[in-house]
Amino acid sequence: MSAVTTIRAALSDAYRRLEPVSPSARLDAQVLLCAVLDVARAHVLAYGERELTAEQADRFDDWLSRRANGEPVAYILGRRAFFDRDLIVTPDVLIPRPETEHLLEEALACTAERPALTAVDVGTGSGALAVTFKAHRPTATVYATDISAAALRVAARNAADLDITFLAGDLLTPLIERDIRVDLIMANLPYIASDDVARLAVSRHEPHLALDGGADGLDLVRRLLDQAPDVTVAGAIILLEIGAGQGSATMALARERFAGASVRLISDYAGHDRVVCVALAR
Ligand SMILES: C[S@@+](CC[C@H](N)C(=O)[O-])C[C@H]1O[C@@H](n2cnc3c(N)ncnc32)[C@H](O)[C@@H]1O
Repeated sequence: MSAVTTIRAALSDAYRRLEPVSPSARLDAQVLLCAVLDVARAHVLAYGERELTAEQADRFDDWLSRRANGEPVAYILGRRAFFDRDLIVTPDVLIPRPETEHLLEEALACTAERPALTAVDVGTGSGALAVTFKAHRPTATVYATDISAAALRVAARNAADLDITFLAGDLLTPLIERDIRVDLIMANLPYIASDDVARLAVSRHEPHLALDGGADGLDLVRRLLDQAPDVTVAGAIILLEIGAGQGSATMALARERFAGASVRLISDYAGHDRVVCVALAR
């Protein structure tokens, strides 16, 4: 059984354990302790003298060991905030990133005048884009595809009672097979170059299938753009999340395939290439 410990002592020990392994050691420790105690962050900062029960201390210790071993906080907690939703995440899905909110914001902006459209989220993972989009555009018809059946199960849990059609398969193939046409394609596909995947810390815990974008990172984007004419209506919009530095290459791929399209690059708050918006000719 653990010795009696206070919030202050538990946090100070946690900072010491996580500082060598996490750039956000203090935040990680506080967030994990909040979840153990089921309190808000202000509570752990204000009530340092509160004692943990032995069970709480043991659970905190277990979670700290997992975090010290590199496991992301989101997988330990099984949850991650995305835009205005709190999503279930498991190691079967990529942890949704704040950068992806740029794509969602663009999708909401370009559908404000025609909310009852048909949209697809390709490579939905946790369902972050499909679920949040449908929550904000309830009259839209929303499809979501993924090649991973395990990811689709997580996405369906996140959709709860939102009416989204989840389809398993390669990119847009499930829509092509059903002769479905859409006004909007959203896609945050794997875009890390194969040679870089193993070198990155994310590959230790997040699914390889969600990361590896082939030799130059753009294999899936290229294939998606090849399929897009078979599912889009005139004037449709394609929003692609990309990696920093992939803007010019992605815009060139879109321009080669879609004569008359308007192609635009959106940067993230760090100034990195993040979303390519392709508005097809009407
Ligand atoms: C980078 S993750 C993005 C997940 C989610 N859209 C998000 O933004 O958090 C890419 C997703 O694409 C899926 N994926 C990989 N290859 C695919 C393919 N050929 N067809 C459909 N989905 C694919 C992966 O399983 C993974 O869920």
